[in-house]
Amino acid sequence: MHRSEQSTMRGLYDIHCHILPGVDDGARNMEEACWMLKREYEEGVRSIIVTPHFRYEMFEPPLALVKEQFEKVKRAAADIGEDLKLYLGCELHTSMDMASALKKGERLTMAGSRYVLVEFGNFDDKAYIRERVQQLMLRGYMPIIAHVERYRATKGDIDFIAELKKLGAHMQVNTDSITGKEGFTIKRFCKKMMKENLVDFIGTDGHGSTRRIPEIAKCCQQVEKTMGTQYAKRIFIENPKKITG
Ligand SMILES: [Fe+2]
Repeated sequence: MHRSEQSTMRGLYDIHCHILPGVDDGARNMEEACWMLKREYEEGVRSIIVTPHFRYEMFEPPLALVKEQFEKVKRAAADIGEDLKLYLGCELHTSMDMASALKKGERLTMAGSRYVLVEFGNFDDKAYIRERVQQLMLRGYMPIIAHVERYRATKGDIDFIAELKKLGAHMQVNTDSITGKEGFTIKRFCKKMMKENLVDFIGTDGHGSTRRIPEIAKCCQQVEKTMGTQYAKRIFIENPKKITG
């Protein structure tokens, strides 16, 4: 059976993945990038926002290189499927200058929109997270908190996530967390988040062909089963469409 047939859904989006080769700890070369693109396509994905890391002292790929790699990967995607669309974004690790760097065009938003995929450090405290979200909102950006289920300050804390959502932040969780690859506690917490209507996006956070593989079909099928087809459509298609336009 074709993998995408596992779900009744067509035209899924993956808004978080590391497919651009040689810019972060994602795909190592074009061959691996192509493998990932093919896998996404087989899984039923038709729109991908590629989100290379930007994190001071760890991942600081020059913007020109990111754009150059994006063009190459976009061409490769067209060979895989005419209907496979690619957009450029960034997983931006929070810093004090993030809003001004975004404004100057030194960092990328999601697909040229006002949405910004933001990553926190595992040990960032609540006050810092709250303040960074507010700062982005004040500057007119719409923060999406990347894999919100993973940080010490947010994991297991439904009230804090609800508070961040009230401030205007959007929540992204990873497919592997939903399907249970990250353990039962995280899986149960993600289900609770969905039931409380606190999830806006689900992304693969795919990094390669051997580890953290981009797998979305099984997750989508599971979300459909737990939450219904309308809900799954909203999370995997309609909400992402608000980013890409
Ligand atoms: Fe990521």
